[in-house]
Amino acid sequence: MTLKTALTEALGITHPIVSAPMATVAGGALAAAVTEAGGLGLIGGGYGDRDWIERELRAAGNARVGIGFITWRLADRPELFDMALERAPAAVFLSFGDPAPFAARAKEAGVPVICQVQTLEHARSAARAGADVVVAQGTEAGGHGGARTTMTLAPAVVDAVAPLPVVAAGGISDGRGLAAALTLGAAGVLIGTRFFATREALGHGNAKARLVSAGGDDTVRTDVFDIARELPWPEPYRIRAVRNRFFDRWNGAEDALREEIADTTDSPVDAFHAALRSGDTEESLVAGGQGIDLVRAVEPAGELVARIAADAERTLATCASLSASP
Ligand SMILES: Cc1cc2nc3c(=O)[nH]c(=O)nc-3n(C[C@H](O)[C@H](O)[C@H](O)COP(=O)(O)O)c2cc1C
Repeated sequence: MTLKTALTEALGITHPIVSAPMATVAGGALAAAVTEAGGLGLIGGGYGDRDWIERELRAAGNARVGIGFITWRLADRPELFDMALERAPAAVFLSFGDPAPFAARAKEAGVPVICQVQTLEHARSAARAGADVVVAQGTEAGGHGGARTTMTLAPAVVDAVAPLPVVAAGGISDGRGLAAALTLGAAGVLIGTRFFATREALGHGNAKARLVSAGGDDTVRTDVFDIARELPWPEPYRIRAVRNRFFDRWNGAEDALREEIADTTDSPVDAFHAALRSGDTEESLVAGGQGIDLVRAVEPAGELVARIAADAERTLATCASLSASP
């Protein structure tokens, strides 16, 4: 038995599970592993240049994978989106900005468009722009996001964009989360943090180990890490990450951090990037969401897809039995 939903129908996949296009983390190997296990894998092209995107598309081999972009960053590098379309990906994924101009190009090219949204207004705009699938991302999510919770946003987006398939994202790490999303009316889930802690994900082993050792109470949504990376993320998007020494030093002192970056030759930006490369998780960034309570080991991505799907089926069957007649 498998869970058949409007998402599995729309994307031609076996399980209603999509791996998030996590920039710098979701490369071709992770996306391919998720697709090969019956979900849809997405490459995280958000901070990638042409070489990075080409390399990771090659790393996916013959697996049918999609590719995600950070929409506001495409404004001055639209050629990356066109390059992706030329490769006929399984889907393109747009988040954090107006999807309309890019969605139109994808539709012309016959490539399915998945739009991730953080508010109802964003959801309606995505539907108007021609999204084939809308992802309702709650604030529990790792990485950038907004303020609404998955529990309230997902069913409201389902109602707002019906009959489009809606995917729930944010805080979903196991089969119970998938079952809950389906009962909220979603047609599937998009999972990021749980797939970061996999063998196939890019990113330092220390970062994956920190996702295993930390808990949901340890995450914060903040702009400290983007100031440190000199990434001009627009309002209202802030990144959720595991709290660390770097955060504790600069939280509430964001202006001082900006000044230090502007004033010194010995910039904290270089130190931050060096820490990221060397796997110093206290002085750099581990993006992750509140769902890390349920991340207990670094595992192969394909095994996770199979387990999440099977556990969701069992959970739904148990719930159905609650209303069985005596
Ligand atoms: C390490 C990391 C990087 C992310 N990078 C991106 C990105 O580049 N583009 C994007 O649309 N979403 C990104 N996200 C957010 C995901 O698309 C997704 O909404 C989120 O991971 C879902 O919540 P979860 O982390 O609780 O599973 C990222 C998430 C994580 C954990």
